[in-house]
Amino acid sequence: MGQREFWDEYIVRYAGRHGLTTNDSRRVTGRFARRTVSTLLRHQTLAELKRMTVLEFGCGTGRLARFIAPLCHRLICCDISEAMLEIARKELSSHCNVVYLQTDGGPLPRVDFAYSYAALSYEPSEQSLWSAAARLDAAATAFCLHFHKVANEHPDPTKSVDRISRGDAYAVEAYRPSVKTLRLRFRGPVYWVERHRPDVRGREPFLYKGQRLSRMRRLADRIVTCR
Ligand SMILES: C[S@@+](CC[C@H](N)C(=O)[O-])C[C@H]1O[C@@H](n2cnc3c(N)ncnc32)[C@H](O)[C@@H]1O
Repeated sequence: MGQREFWDEYIVRYAGRHGLTTNDSRRVTGRFARRTVSTLLRHQTLAELKRMTVLEFGCGTGRLARFIAPLCHRLICCDISEAMLEIARKELSSHCNVVYLQTDGGPLPRVDFAYSYAALSYEPSEQSLWSAAARLDAAATAFCLHFHKVANEHPDPTKSVDRISRGDAYAVEAYRPSVKTLRLRFRGPVYWVERHRPDVRGREPFLYKGQRLSRMRRLADRIVTCR
């Protein structure tokens, strides 16, 4: 079973209406979802967002996109699964600035800002995770990429974090880079790694890209130098 088929089946068989395997309203669209959104947008100003074309990589059912669409000029909801996008289209039908894109691993459209939450760690190998991150890096002037512990989100929490498989129903290999690995791979002045507790799952790595971050890094370097 390929990745696309897995996600088409996931939404039908395992996930609730909002694409998560929990029905906890605080997590699906309540205060924890809002906390996630503010972590993703932490280094963006609302005034700049209003003029930006934004892309969500792995938008699922539009659970987070519903909060971000009203804040930006245009939102491209991108997902590998047509079944997820179909739900997102219905859920976000009142937002006329949202467009939908089924991605097949090809280049992504150029955008001012991209974000991805609980999607990249489902890449089937370390190599495909880095290639997805590189596609986002090439497409977005700024981004926020989240890398989560897949086991906590998975329909079968008894499976290992690194490799999840169940007969012929699905097969997902998950890889989550450490903060150290992210820092080594994304070294330039525009990259920045932070760990946050975006909802109830504990602290997780977020990789940010943006011009504002280079100013923050210069400031942090100066503070370290002064000590
Ligand atoms: C757990 S859901 C999270 C959805 C959404 N970001 C949220 O927080 O509600 C993971 C989503 O990532 C999508 N996804 C997984 N691999 C992908 C890929 N290679 N390209 C695009 N989307 C992908 C899945 O189809 C699914 O909708």
